[in-house]
Amino acid sequence: SAESTLSVVVIGASGDLARKKIFPALFALFYEGMLIENFQIFGYARSNMDDEAFRDSIAETLTCRIDAGEDCGKKMDIFLSRCFYQQGQYSEAKDFQRLDARLSVMEGALCSNRMFYLSIPPKVFISAAGNAADYCSSRTGWNRCVVEKPFGHDSASSHELSEALGKHLLEDQIYRIDHYLGKELIENLTVLRFSNLIFEPLWSRQYIRNVQIIFSEDYGTEGRGGYFDEYGIIRDVIQNHLLQIVALFAMEPPVTLAAEDIRNEKVKVLRSLKPVKIEDVVLGQYTKRVSKAHTYPGYLDDPTVPKNSITPTFAAVAMFVDNARWDGVPFLLKAGKALSTRGAEIRVQFRHVPGHLYRAKFGADPDASTNELVIRIQPDEAMYLKINSKVPGLGLRIENSRLDLPFHAKFDRELPDAYERLLLDVINGDKRLFIRSDELEAAWSLFTPVLHKIEELHAQPELYPYGSRGPVGAHYLGAKYNVRWGDLSYTPNGGGS
Ligand code: BG6
Repeated sequence: SAESTLSVVVIGASGDLARKKIFPALFALFYEGMLIENFQIFGYARSNMDDEAFRDSIAETLTCRIDAGEDCGKKMDIFLSRCFYQQGQYSEAKDFQRLDARLSVMEGALCSNRMFYLSIPPKVFISAAGNAADYCSSRTGWNRCVVEKPFGHDSASSHELSEALGKHLLEDQIYRIDHYLGKELIENLTVLRFSNLIFEPLWSRQYIRNVQIIFSEDYGTEGRGGYFDEYGIIRDVIQNHLLQIVALFAMEPPVTLAAEDIRNEKVKVLRSLKPVKIEDVVLGQYTKRVSKAHTYPGYLDDPTVPKNSITPTFAAVAMFVDNARWDGVPFLLKAGKALSTRGAEIRVQFRHVPGHLYRAKFGADPDASTNELVIRIQPDEAMYLKINSKVPGLGLRIENSRLDLPFHAKFDRELPDAYERLLLDVINGDKRLFIRSDELEAAWSLFTPVLHKIEELHAQPELYPYGSRGPVGAHYLGAKYNVRWGDLSYTPNGGGS
């Protein structure tokens, strides 16, 4: 509105995340007309740069959508003219006071709302958050602070971090981001479950045999090894992104769609999950692969990774929700880097059809006729249901084929990036898609014991070549629970399975 102004401060403006995700998302919001009239964006970082140099550096990362109008270039110039840079140390109060002074001049007498995005390494996190809150808060409007993982590395350190943040910020002002919650198909999970009659009645141990949540990347850490090595794939992806999916998937219907109602249900699921057992974990690490055309470096070849690292780049875990709805249903989670494909999916396998009418038609494989619901998070976002149908013709041949909803073909538009949605939610004060402190605590308590055990035992990861399907141990873990992993292959409208 005309009476207020919005300032967005990206602390850690030269980092990878800021450049690749945050500035492009802010531009997309501006392009779509989602930012208010009076706004300014500040990058804050240590290197010395003026506004012009900063604009040049982010201009490289901004893009116009395929379906954007001709005015996109012009809008980009306007957007860049609202971007500014403040050089400063993360631990220096006076640098934040300088930023505050510049902001105050621009904001003038209007009610000013400020959003701080902390995109910086853990070791400077608290001092930057504290300084921003103590020396750079708006005195006339709201102040909100977006924080990114890692939120500590186990229960104790996460708790410490929360306490330290709590000295400067109210829980209400803290937005803990998990960008998977901003993905279109994850947002759609609740719509799918609670607006369709046909799924919710099946959504329990009575009909669902197992649930797989699979995350696979076809590239390695490549330069990010310094950060990654201290965390490993369980902390990097499973304890947050995949576990959040489990919570949304398995929760009871919320009372309303309000943030607290949804988060109350999620936290109940997290608290009903059994802590992961070491016998239910498989670890892997990728190694170098040499092909004729190319040498793919192993994890240990990454110069930012210590030579003897046993940090897992792959993990598969089995989890169980210990409540009436899900008793005994395995939730199998798998995440890995440097595998053969890139993709993320939720795969829901239903039980076998009782009785024998058509069983013989499917041969010896009991899984050949399984109904399966696949929610394909990325790429080629889609949902499909595998059902059995007669192949047209005089004989009786039955095929397990796809009832398919490919998002791009169906809706004919580019899907917004997760960060766009989440940043807009912060501006609107909508916390539905952000992690509440008790959720975070519950998430850590599920993984902390097993992470400590892995470290105590110096558990050796199973090695797998770059670009392969990952360690064979994952298949044994699946077999232990009678689960055959899905393989992520998908071509929109391509038939097959
Ligand atoms: C990040 C992890 O949170 O998510 C990365 O730190 C990972 O290791 C990334 O690559 C995956 O996100 P996306 O949106 O590309 O699937």
